[in-house]
Amino acid sequence: MHPMLNIAVKAARRAGGIINRASRNLDVIAVKEKAAKDFVSEVDREAEQAIIRTLREAYPGHAILAEESGSSGSSEFQWIIDPLDGTTNFLHGFPQYAISIALAHKGVITQAVVYDPVRNDLFTATKGRGAFFNESRLRVSKRPHIQTALIGTGFPYRQLDHLESYLGMMRDIIRNSAGLRRPGSAALDLAWVAAGRLDGFWELGLSKWDIAAGSLLINEAGGLVGNLQGNEGYLDSGNIVAGNPKIFAQLLPLIAPHLTAALRD
Ligand code: IPD
Ligand code: CA
Ligand code: CA
Repeated sequence: MHPMLNIAVKAARRAGGIINRASRNLDVIAVKEKAAKDFVSEVDREAEQAIIRTLREAYPGHAILAEESGSSGSSEFQWIIDPLDGTTNFLHGFPQYAISIALAHKGVITQAVVYDPVRNDLFTATKGRGAFFNESRLRVSKRPHIQTALIGTGFPYRQLDHLESYLGMMRDIIRNSAGLRRPGSAALDLAWVAAGRLDGFWELGLSKWDIAAGSLLINEAGGLVGNLQGNEGYLDSGNIVAGNPKIFAQLLPLIAPHLTAALRD
């Protein structure tokens, strides 16, 4: 394993330990509403601090972009961290959430870890060296037709500007696929596309820390990731489509009719 990936795995497992311990006592967790429907708990913050400490110890010069504490440092290496993706699920005891850690080198994602502490599922990738689930190689699904595909998504719930466009996409994808799922952790959803548990995925308005690691997992597992038009730029816009190459290509024309100018990024 690449030494930088190894440190990221160590950091993710430490955060996982904190999250698992806290999950046994959900009643006593202090929660704050950062913005409407945007919750952060002391567990998010503690997990993030544990990750940052671990990374800093090994790479004191690297920059960091973390959901709860923002960005710090300046370096061609930047760690992009979501300490707990799926906080709403976590707070409800709904066991679908993950830790996401990616490393960008000169703006290109080169290392990725998504760790599901509930199942002890570890998804990792190094650019150019493939993606792994625990010890074994990851491949996206081979399902060729969207009619038999299982598609993941995330519903808009905070920012509702694009709700009508989203519902149009959703209607067309429900009509044309085998089923739609909204598990509630974008990072884990993307890892599941990489693992072939989902054949495709799309969501609007995500943040960099939700998708940085997951997008490398998918690319390294033989899948495709793009913005709503299938192009680059999804890390900045947060609008993302992903899937095995065949399903990716069949999702785009179901999404295209519902794009407004603001969604063509
Ligand atoms: C959220 C989850 C969710 C997605 C949201 C994200 P958080 O992350 O990934 O699946 O639909 O848009 O913000 O806030 O739990 O880290
Ligand atoms: Ca998140
Ligand atoms: Ca989070």
